[in-house]
Amino acid sequence: MTGCDGPQSTLAPAGSGAEQTLQLFIWMAAGAALVWVLVIGLAIVAFRAQAGDVRVARMLIVGGGVALPTIVLFVLLGFGLRLLPELTAPGDGLRIAVSGEQWWWRVRYEPPDGPAVASANEIRLPAGVRTEFTLTSTDVIHSLWIPSLGGKMDMIPGRTTRLALEPTRTGVFRGVCAEFCGASHTFMAFDVVVMEQDEFTAWLERQAEPARPPAGALAAQGRALFRDNGCGACHRIAGTAAAGVIGPDLTHVGARASLGAGTLPAEIEAFAQWIGHTDAVKPEVRMPAYDMLTPEQLTAIGHYLKGLQ
Ligand code: CUA
Repeated sequence: MTGCDGPQSTLAPAGSGAEQTLQLFIWMAAGAALVWVLVIGLAIVAFRAQAGDVRVARMLIVGGGVALPTIVLFVLLGFGLRLLPELTAPGDGLRIAVSGEQWWWRVRYEPPDGPAVASANEIRLPAGVRTEFTLTSTDVIHSLWIPSLGGKMDMIPGRTTRLALEPTRTGVFRGVCAEFCGASHTFMAFDVVVMEQDEFTAWLERQAEPARPPAGALAAQGRALFRDNGCGACHRIAGTAAAGVIGPDLTHVGARASLGAGTLPAEIEAFAQWIGHTDAVKPEVRMPAYDMLTPEQLTAIGHYLKGLQ
């Protein structure tokens, strides 16, 4: 019953694909219930029947064993095939390239009329627009799934797969990796924020801007620690010397709802906990734990990163 509502439910659709999938589920569940009732009814009839009536038995076998399943399956097949063209139709505007990596999401917005914008572990979408995802993977097979918006699609190394999703209402939803991909598969989630079109356009323009300088002495100390500990070798913060591409882009990491790919809330203490103890939060994660830093130093870095709005 806990799956009936919430930010990650196929039964509370917020996208055209999810609505159609729900329709198909309702028809299939109703069909299955009907078949179940018929089978139970026949079982009762069989218990009460007199032995030896071969004509009735033959009719029941041909009718219930051949004709009925054939008709039910053909109707369901027809229903499913009718949904296919719309479910697999391409997008018409914004494109988002998402790459699955152990265990996070590399995100790149490719608007038709503007510069590409790098991000990670959060996807924002305009409502009412059919956005096309181009999906890749750098290591093993992952699968992108936002149950509230539509179906899932595998991300396969060496190939590019496509998925178009059309959100029908605004809100915050949850996306997950739907293919077992290693020790921290379960810690590979992301937030999906559906916004009105004009709100989204303004947000994307802000995302394209470089990071703002730190506000306050603590955040400035955090920036120095970030630089001196070599964090920029893996992470990029636009507008600074940090230009690494191995890990998530952190230019606006403070404005995201979570960190560690949906693992912790994006709060200052959580940044400190994450950086100091990555492997305790996320088993086998590639990012080393910076446990040589003092709690004060970790908090300073947390202040700097949270300030990257
Ligand atoms: Cu990536 Cu499971």
